[in-house]
Amino acid sequence: MRVLVVGSGGREHALTKKILESPEVSEVFVAPGNGGTREIAHNVDIAAADCSRLVRFAKRNRVGLTVVGPEVPLVLGIGGYFDYRSQKMFGPGPGAAMLEGSKNYAKTIMKRYGIPTGESSLFAEYHHAIDFLKKMPPPYVVKVDGLAGGKGVVVTSDLKEAEAAVRRGFSKSEYINPHDLVLIEECLEGWELSMLAFSDGRNILPLVPAQDYKRLDTEKNSPNTGGMGSYSPVPKVTPELYEEIIESILKPTITAMAKEGMTYKGIIYAGLMITEDGPKVIEFNCRFGDPETQAIIPRLESDIMEPMLAVVEGDLSGVKLKWKPEVCASVVIASGGYPGTDHYPELEIQGIDDASRIEGVTIYHAGTTIKDGEFHIAGGRVLNVSALGKDFGEARERAYEAVSKIKFPDMCYRTDIALTGI
Ligand code: AMP
Ligand code: GLY
Repeated sequence: MRVLVVGSGGREHALTKKILESPEVSEVFVAPGNGGTREIAHNVDIAAADCSRLVRFAKRNRVGLTVVGPEVPLVLGIGGYFDYRSQKMFGPGPGAAMLEGSKNYAKTIMKRYGIPTGESSLFAEYHHAIDFLKKMPPPYVVKVDGLAGGKGVVVTSDLKEAEAAVRRGFSKSEYINPHDLVLIEECLEGWELSMLAFSDGRNILPLVPAQDYKRLDTEKNSPNTGGMGSYSPVPKVTPELYEEIIESILKPTITAMAKEGMTYKGIIYAGLMITEDGPKVIEFNCRFGDPETQAIIPRLESDIMEPMLAVVEGDLSGVKLKWKPEVCASVVIASGGYPGTDHYPELEIQGIDDASRIEGVTIYHAGTTIKDGEFHIAGGRVLNVSALGKDFGEARERAYEAVSKIKFPDMCYRTDIALTGI
């Protein structure tokens, strides 16, 4: 079978590599892909958000399954472009993808079906939101309703900053899919966890838990990023907590979506805060997490095509996942200036081959391209260095030894990935 992977990050390189291991798969196309996917698959020059061209490409090239990595095409409704009888796509349809596409929709579903989450208030009027902020005690959590590329959430104790976030939320030009709605939420306290599961619309098949590192470095108030690393499993997740998350959050959400007529097929990603009162949902995503996937996939023993095809066919009930006993730490290497700029010099990256020869290590590319036969920087987050190990001590040692072999000017990375796992 031919597979088309949509996207260009470390998540898509990890998915591509894993999909290629399947005996079901003859060839993989990646649109638009990166330097890493170009080495193992066929990069196709179509943007991830260009839904109609992607569907035409899949049809013309007799692609058996299209796997959509990022949220933008899903929320733009790529599922609605596919004719499901003849063209298979892995990912929720346009209605179900609103679980990520509209924070207000997600909150409405959670409130209606008793799925644990923080309190929130919705505003369609700038002045009403500002008045509400002024009357409430800090800290403030302000969210834009639509997709915002990771920039739509502000958590702050500074009223001026919260007001500025409300102002930006109502400025039409800044975000995709602006519904002109802003949410002000209760600030949840605890520790964060990402739990992902396959869903066929009725049954779920959970993946192993993971944690990501959202801040650029360990300093308090360090900028929020797309994610600077991840690890899996999360030792703090007891079997009881794992069950509670499945029974009180993941299963009821899929059932709720079915009742609403929004059958949810694909990956459901719950971003959770584990509070003193138990797990609560911070947000849902309608896709694999990045960089969580880069710490989860190396641990997956099973053929990933089996659950993906079962999801598309609508019956996951017979599928089981087998996991390796090893743990995984995944370190993101970013360009200097990340996340403060969108322009990164196309510098040469050295040492990737040396680094990938270290036992247990896999390098997933994110912002890279191949120029004159060499890898060059093509984005803010450049590489993910994932390492398996018998424990987090070994995984970290291998990952950071690999990081030390990689060189380009001003590269930056966190040194504490998976340290909390030890
Ligand atoms: P998001 O972009 O929705 O993933 O949110 C970014 C980060 O903001 C989350 O990972 C949390 O650290 C924080 N956050 C979002 N909502 C809340 C909340 N209600 N309470 C506390 N922290 C939050
Ligand atoms: N790791 C956060 C996300 O994928 O949205």
